Amino acid sequence: MVTFEDVKKTYPGGLERRAVRALNGITFTVEPGEVVAYVGPNGAGKTTSINILLGLLRPSSGRVTVGGHLPTEASTRARIGYLPERPYFYEQLSAVEFLRLCGKLSGLEARRIAQRTDELLDRLALSEARHRRLRHFSRGMLQRIGLAQALLHDPDLLVLDEPMSGLDPIGRQLVREMLGEAKTRGKTVLYSSHILADAELVADRAAVLVGGELKALASLGELRAVSGDRLELVLGPTPRVTREEIAQRWPEGRAVGNDWALSVDEGSLQLIITQAISRGARIVQVLRPQAPLEETLIRLMRQSTEKGGNA
Ligand SMILES: Nc1ncnc2c1ncn2[C@@H]1O[C@H](COP(=O)(O)OP(=O)(O)OP(=O)(O)O)[C@@H](O)[C@H]1O
Ligand SMILES: [Mg+2]
Repeated sequence: MVTFEDVKKTYPGGLERRAVRALNGITFTVEPGEVVAYVGPNGAGKTTSINILLGLLRPSSGRVTVGGHLPTEASTRARIGYLPERPYFYEQLSAVEFLRLCGKLSGLEARRIAQRTDELLDRLALSEARHRRLRHFSRGMLQRIGLAQALLHDPDLLVLDEPMSGLDPIGRQLVREMLGEAKTRGKTVLYSSHILADAELVADRAAVLVGGELKALASLGELRAVSGDRLELVLGPTPRVTREEIAQRWPEGRAVGNDWALSVDEGSLQLIITQAISRGARIVQVLRPQAPLEETLIRLMRQSTEKGGNA
Protein backbone atom coordinates (compact mmCIF):
# COMPACT_ATOMS: atom_id res chain seq x y z
CA MET A 1 0.00 0.00 0.00
CA VAL A 2 2.83 2.35 0.91
CA THR A 3 6.43 1.97 -0.17
CA PHE A 4 9.43 4.05 0.69
CA GLU A 5 12.36 3.35 -1.62
CA ASP A 6 15.69 4.67 -0.39
CA VAL A 7 14.15 8.00 0.55
CA LYS A 8 16.58 10.72 1.54
CA LYS A 9 15.84 14.22 2.62
CA THR A 10 18.22 17.02 3.40
CA TYR A 11 16.78 20.37 4.39
CA PRO A 12 19.02 22.92 2.68
CA GLY A 13 21.10 25.26 4.79
CA GLY A 14 21.24 29.03 4.48
CA LEU A 15 23.79 31.70 5.24
CA GLU A 16 24.03 30.86 8.90
CA ARG A 17 22.07 27.64 8.94
CA ARG A 18 23.60 24.24 8.46
CA ALA A 19 21.86 21.82 6.15
CA VAL A 20 19.98 19.11 8.07
CA ARG A 21 20.00 15.55 6.84
CA ALA A 22 16.62 14.40 8.14
CA LEU A 23 16.32 11.09 6.26
CA ASN A 24 19.27 8.97 5.38
CA GLY A 25 17.79 6.53 2.89
CA ILE A 26 14.79 4.72 4.30
CA THR A 27 13.18 1.72 2.62
CA PHE A 28 10.09 -0.09 3.81
CA THR A 29 6.63 -1.24 2.78
CA VAL A 30 3.31 -1.07 4.58
CA GLU A 31 1.06 -3.88 3.36
CA PRO A 32 -2.64 -3.26 2.66
CA GLY A 33 -4.69 -3.73 5.81
CA GLU A 34 -1.69 -3.43 8.06
CA VAL A 35 -1.30 -1.11 11.04
CA VAL A 36 2.25 0.14 11.32
CA ALA A 37 3.48 2.32 14.14
CA TYR A 38 6.23 4.67 13.25
CA VAL A 39 8.27 5.15 16.37
CA GLY A 40 11.38 7.10 17.13
CA PRO A 41 12.69 9.88 19.29
CA ASN A 42 12.18 13.60 18.67
CA GLY A 43 13.87 14.68 15.48
CA ALA A 44 14.10 11.13 14.10
CA GLY A 45 12.47 12.13 10.81
CA LYS A 46 8.95 10.79 11.37
CA THR A 47 7.13 13.96 10.37
CA THR A 48 9.52 14.55 7.48
CA SER A 49 8.80 11.12 5.99
CA ILE A 50 5.07 11.47 6.62
CA ASN A 51 5.08 14.80 4.79
CA ILE A 52 6.88 13.15 1.89
CA LEU A 53 4.34 10.34 1.88
CA LEU A 54 1.58 12.91 1.59
CA GLY A 55 3.29 14.75 -1.23
CA LEU A 56 3.63 17.87 0.95
CA LEU A 57 7.39 17.68 0.79
CA ARG A 58 9.69 16.43 -1.97
CA PRO A 59 12.39 13.91 -1.12
CA SER A 60 15.97 14.85 -2.04
CA SER A 61 16.19 11.42 -3.64
CA GLY A 62 14.33 8.13 -3.62
CA ARG A 63 10.65 7.51 -4.15
CA VAL A 64 7.44 7.02 -2.21
CA THR A 65 4.36 5.39 -3.71
CA VAL A 66 0.85 4.88 -2.38
CA GLY A 67 -1.00 2.01 -4.01
CA GLY A 68 1.56 2.20 -6.81
CA HIS A 69 0.93 5.89 -7.45
CA LEU A 70 2.89 9.01 -6.62
CA PRO A 71 1.63 10.90 -3.57
CA THR A 72 1.16 14.07 -5.58
CA GLU A 73 -1.57 12.55 -7.80
CA ALA A 74 -5.02 13.86 -6.82
CA SER A 75 -6.55 10.37 -6.85
CA THR A 76 -3.95 9.26 -4.30
CA ARG A 77 -4.73 12.10 -1.96
CA ALA A 78 -8.43 11.27 -1.97
CA ARG A 79 -7.62 7.83 -0.57
CA ILE A 80 -5.66 9.18 2.38
CA GLY A 81 -6.93 10.51 5.69
CA TYR A 82 -4.32 12.64 7.36
CA LEU A 83 -3.91 14.01 10.85
CA PRO A 84 -1.06 16.51 10.88
CA GLU A 85 1.31 16.89 13.80
CA ARG A 86 0.25 20.50 14.23
CA PRO A 87 -3.25 20.65 12.82
CA TYR A 88 -4.40 24.03 11.71
CA PHE A 89 -8.01 24.71 12.55
CA TYR A 90 -10.40 27.40 11.45
CA GLU A 91 -11.00 28.55 14.97
CA GLN A 92 -14.11 30.58 14.32
CA LEU A 93 -15.98 27.51 13.02
CA SER A 94 -17.94 25.13 15.19
CA ALA A 95 -17.13 21.42 15.16
CA VAL A 96 -20.00 20.72 12.79
CA GLU A 97 -19.14 23.61 10.47
CA PHE A 98 -15.50 22.57 10.36
CA LEU A 99 -16.32 18.98 9.42
CA ARG A 100 -18.81 20.22 6.82
CA LEU A 101 -16.06 22.30 5.24
CA CYS A 102 -13.64 19.37 5.27
CA GLY A 103 -16.30 17.12 3.74
CA LYS A 104 -16.99 19.61 0.96
CA LEU A 105 -13.29 19.92 0.25
CA SER A 106 -13.09 16.16 -0.19
CA GLY A 107 -16.07 16.26 -2.52
CA LEU A 108 -18.58 14.45 -0.29
CA GLU A 109 -22.33 14.92 -0.69
CA ALA A 110 -24.07 17.04 1.95
CA ARG A 111 -26.16 14.12 3.21
CA ARG A 112 -23.13 11.90 3.59
CA ILE A 113 -21.23 14.68 5.38
CA ALA A 114 -24.07 15.14 7.89
CA GLN A 115 -24.27 11.41 8.53
CA ARG A 116 -20.50 10.93 8.95
CA THR A 117 -20.28 14.04 11.16
CA ASP A 118 -22.92 12.65 13.52
CA GLU A 119 -21.25 9.25 13.62
CA LEU A 120 -17.78 10.60 14.27
CA LEU A 121 -18.70 13.27 16.81
CA ASP A 122 -20.60 10.61 18.66
CA ARG A 123 -17.76 8.09 18.46
CA LEU A 124 -15.22 10.68 19.58
CA ALA A 125 -17.38 11.84 22.48
CA LEU A 126 -17.73 15.32 21.00
CA SER A 127 -21.48 15.38 20.39
CA GLU A 128 -22.11 17.79 23.23
CA ALA A 129 -19.60 20.24 21.81
CA ARG A 130 -20.88 19.98 18.24
CA HIS A 131 -21.87 23.65 18.03
CA ARG A 132 -19.01 25.00 20.12
CA ARG A 133 -16.39 27.02 18.25
CA LEU A 134 -13.04 25.28 17.85
CA ARG A 135 -11.42 28.31 19.50
CA HIS A 136 -13.03 27.12 22.72
CA PHE A 137 -11.98 23.51 22.35
CA SER A 138 -9.43 22.04 24.74
CA ARG A 139 -6.20 20.59 23.35
CA GLY A 140 -7.47 17.03 23.55
CA MET A 141 -10.78 18.00 21.94
CA LEU A 142 -8.89 19.58 19.04
CA GLN A 143 -6.90 16.40 18.64
CA ARG A 144 -10.16 14.45 18.42
CA ILE A 145 -11.69 16.79 15.88
CA GLY A 146 -8.48 16.41 13.89
CA LEU A 147 -9.02 12.68 13.93
CA ALA A 148 -12.68 13.09 12.91
CA GLN A 149 -11.52 15.19 9.95
CA ALA A 150 -9.04 12.47 8.93
CA LEU A 151 -11.73 9.78 9.04
CA LEU A 152 -14.56 11.76 7.48
CA HIS A 153 -14.25 10.54 3.89
CA ASP A 154 -13.64 6.94 5.02
CA PRO A 155 -10.17 6.72 3.47
CA ASP A 156 -8.32 3.48 2.69
CA LEU A 157 -5.12 4.76 4.21
CA LEU A 158 -4.86 6.65 7.48
CA VAL A 159 -1.70 8.60 8.13
CA LEU A 160 -1.68 10.01 11.61
CA ASP A 161 1.18 12.06 12.99
CA GLU A 162 1.12 11.54 16.76
CA PRO A 163 -2.59 10.79 17.11
CA MET A 164 -2.28 10.26 20.85
CA SER A 165 -0.69 13.60 21.58
CA GLY A 166 -2.57 15.72 24.09
CA LEU A 167 -5.06 13.00 24.93
CA ASP A 168 -6.02 11.81 28.37
CA PRO A 169 -6.05 8.05 29.10
CA ILE A 170 -9.67 7.73 27.96
CA GLY A 171 -8.88 9.60 24.78
CA ARG A 172 -5.89 7.36 24.10
CA GLN A 173 -8.01 4.30 24.68
CA LEU A 174 -10.57 5.70 22.26
CA VAL A 175 -7.96 6.27 19.57
CA ARG A 176 -6.60 2.76 20.08
CA GLU A 177 -10.12 1.38 19.66
CA MET A 178 -10.70 3.43 16.54
CA LEU A 179 -7.43 2.26 15.02
CA GLY A 180 -8.49 -1.28 15.84
CA GLU A 181 -11.85 -0.71 14.14
CA ALA A 182 -10.13 0.76 11.08
CA LYS A 183 -7.98 -2.34 10.88
CA THR A 184 -11.00 -4.63 11.19
CA ARG A 185 -12.52 -2.78 8.25
CA GLY A 186 -9.43 -3.48 6.17
CA LYS A 187 -7.92 -0.01 6.34
CA THR A 188 -4.19 0.56 6.25
CA VAL A 189 -2.81 2.72 9.02
CA LEU A 190 0.55 4.38 9.49
CA TYR A 191 0.83 6.40 12.65
CA SER A 192 3.72 7.96 14.44
CA SER A 193 4.41 8.06 18.12
CA HIS A 194 7.39 8.29 20.36
CA ILE A 195 5.58 6.18 22.91
CA LEU A 196 6.15 2.54 22.21
CA ALA A 197 3.42 1.49 24.58
CA ASP A 198 0.97 3.00 22.09
CA ALA A 199 2.43 0.82 19.38
CA GLU A 200 2.34 -2.24 21.55
CA LEU A 201 -1.40 -2.24 21.86
CA VAL A 202 -2.54 -1.66 18.29
CA ALA A 203 0.14 -2.07 15.69
CA ASP A 204 0.99 -5.17 13.68
CA ARG A 205 4.51 -3.94 13.15
CA ALA A 206 6.65 -1.11 14.37
CA ALA A 207 9.08 0.81 12.20
CA VAL A 208 11.77 2.22 14.44
CA LEU A 209 13.32 5.36 13.02
CA VAL A 210 16.34 6.92 14.71
CA GLY A 211 18.45 9.73 13.31
CA GLY A 212 16.90 9.45 9.84
CA GLU A 213 17.58 5.72 9.61
CA LEU A 214 15.26 2.77 9.91
CA LYS A 215 16.70 0.74 12.76
CA ALA A 216 14.08 -1.97 12.80
CA LEU A 217 10.87 -2.93 11.08
CA ALA A 218 9.38 -5.88 12.80
CA SER A 219 6.37 -7.29 14.50
CA LEU A 220 6.23 -6.37 18.14
CA GLY A 221 6.96 -9.98 19.08
CA GLU A 222 10.08 -9.92 16.93
CA LEU A 223 11.17 -6.62 18.44
CA ARG A 224 10.88 -8.16 21.86
CA ALA A 225 13.01 -11.06 20.71
CA VAL A 226 15.74 -8.73 19.42
CA SER A 227 15.63 -6.88 22.66
CA GLY A 228 16.46 -10.16 24.39
CA ASP A 229 13.21 -9.80 26.23
CA ARG A 230 13.16 -11.93 29.32
CA LEU A 231 10.40 -13.21 31.51
CA GLU A 232 10.17 -12.81 35.21
CA LEU A 233 9.55 -15.96 37.20
CA VAL A 234 8.57 -15.50 40.81
CA LEU A 235 9.13 -18.44 43.17
CA GLY A 236 7.65 -18.63 46.65
CA PRO A 237 8.68 -20.55 49.78
CA THR A 238 6.63 -23.47 51.09
CA PRO A 239 6.89 -25.63 54.20
CA ARG A 240 9.34 -27.73 52.15
CA VAL A 241 11.67 -24.94 51.10
CA THR A 242 12.60 -21.50 52.45
CA ARG A 243 13.24 -18.39 50.42
CA GLU A 244 16.89 -18.55 51.45
CA GLU A 245 17.19 -22.04 50.00
CA ILE A 246 15.58 -20.92 46.78
CA ALA A 247 17.98 -17.95 46.70
CA GLN A 248 20.96 -20.24 47.20
CA ARG A 249 19.94 -22.34 44.24
CA TRP A 250 19.29 -19.30 42.01
CA PRO A 251 21.52 -16.56 43.42
CA GLU A 252 21.04 -14.29 40.38
CA GLY A 253 17.48 -13.50 41.51
CA ARG A 254 16.19 -10.85 43.87
CA ALA A 255 13.84 -10.77 46.84
CA VAL A 256 10.29 -9.56 46.27
CA GLY A 257 8.49 -9.59 49.60
CA ASN A 258 8.69 -13.16 50.81
CA ASP A 259 9.28 -14.45 47.29
CA TRP A 260 12.25 -14.72 44.97
CA ALA A 261 12.12 -13.27 41.44
CA LEU A 262 14.26 -14.58 38.59
CA SER A 263 14.80 -13.14 35.16
CA VAL A 264 14.77 -16.04 32.71
CA ASP A 265 14.74 -16.38 28.96
CA GLU A 266 11.85 -18.06 27.26
CA GLY A 267 13.87 -21.14 26.33
CA SER A 268 14.85 -22.07 29.86
CA LEU A 269 11.57 -21.23 31.57
CA GLN A 270 10.15 -24.75 31.42
CA LEU A 271 13.27 -26.33 32.87
CA ILE A 272 13.55 -23.87 35.77
CA ILE A 273 9.89 -24.30 36.64
CA THR A 274 10.33 -28.09 36.72
CA GLN A 275 13.41 -27.78 38.93
CA ALA A 276 11.68 -25.32 41.24
CA ILE A 277 8.66 -27.56 41.69
CA SER A 278 10.81 -30.59 42.39
CA ARG A 279 12.57 -28.61 45.13
CA GLY A 280 9.23 -27.82 46.68
CA ALA A 281 9.01 -24.16 45.66
CA ARG A 282 5.71 -22.55 44.74
CA ILE A 283 5.30 -20.93 41.31
CA VAL A 284 3.85 -17.53 42.22
CA GLN A 285 3.78 -16.04 38.75
CA VAL A 286 5.43 -15.75 35.37
CA LEU A 287 5.19 -12.37 33.78
CA ARG A 288 6.49 -10.28 30.97
CA PRO A 289 7.88 -7.11 32.49
CA GLN A 290 6.15 -3.91 31.39
CA ALA A 291 7.50 -1.55 28.75
CA PRO A 292 10.11 -3.89 27.25
CA LEU A 293 9.75 -2.10 23.94
CA GLU A 294 10.51 1.22 25.51
CA GLU A 295 13.83 -0.25 26.55
CA THR A 296 14.40 -1.56 23.04
CA LEU A 297 13.85 1.89 21.65
CA ILE A 298 16.22 3.45 24.13
CA ARG A 299 18.84 0.85 23.27
CA LEU A 300 18.44 1.46 19.54
CA MET A 301 18.78 5.18 20.18
CA ARG A 302 21.93 4.71 22.24
CA GLN A 303 23.48 2.43 19.62
CA SER A 304 22.91 5.07 16.99
CA THR A 305 24.40 7.90 19.06
CA GLU A 306 27.43 5.75 19.81
CA LYS A 307 27.87 5.24 16.08
CA GLY A 308 27.72 9.01 15.64
CA GLY A 309 24.12 9.23 14.44
CA ASN A 310 22.66 12.68 14.10
CA ALA A 311 19.59 12.14 16.28
N1 LIG B 1 11.73 22.72 7.50
C1 LIG B 1 12.85 22.29 8.09
N2 LIG B 1 14.02 22.91 7.91
C2 LIG B 1 15.15 22.46 8.49
N3 LIG B 1 15.20 21.36 9.27
C3 LIG B 1 14.06 20.71 9.50
C4 LIG B 1 12.81 21.13 8.92
N4 LIG B 1 11.86 20.28 9.33
C5 LIG B 1 12.47 19.36 10.12
N5 LIG B 1 13.79 19.61 10.22
C6 LIG B 1 14.79 18.83 10.94
O1 LIG B 1 14.74 17.48 10.46
C7 LIG B 1 14.91 16.55 11.53
C8 LIG B 1 13.73 15.60 11.57
O2 LIG B 1 12.57 16.33 11.97
P1 LIG B 1 11.11 15.67 12.03
O3 LIG B 1 10.15 16.75 12.32
O4 LIG B 1 10.90 14.87 10.79
O5 LIG B 1 11.27 14.69 13.28
P2 LIG B 1 10.17 13.84 14.07
O6 LIG B 1 10.66 12.43 14.11
O7 LIG B 1 8.82 14.07 13.52
O8 LIG B 1 10.31 14.43 15.55
P3 LIG B 1 9.16 14.66 16.70
O9 LIG B 1 9.02 13.36 17.43
O10 LIG B 1 9.81 15.69 17.58
O11 LIG B 1 7.92 15.13 16.04
C9 LIG B 1 15.09 17.41 12.79
O12 LIG B 1 16.45 17.53 13.04
C10 LIG B 1 14.45 18.73 12.41
O13 LIG B 1 15.04 19.81 13.12
MG1 LIG C 1 7.13 14.83 14.29
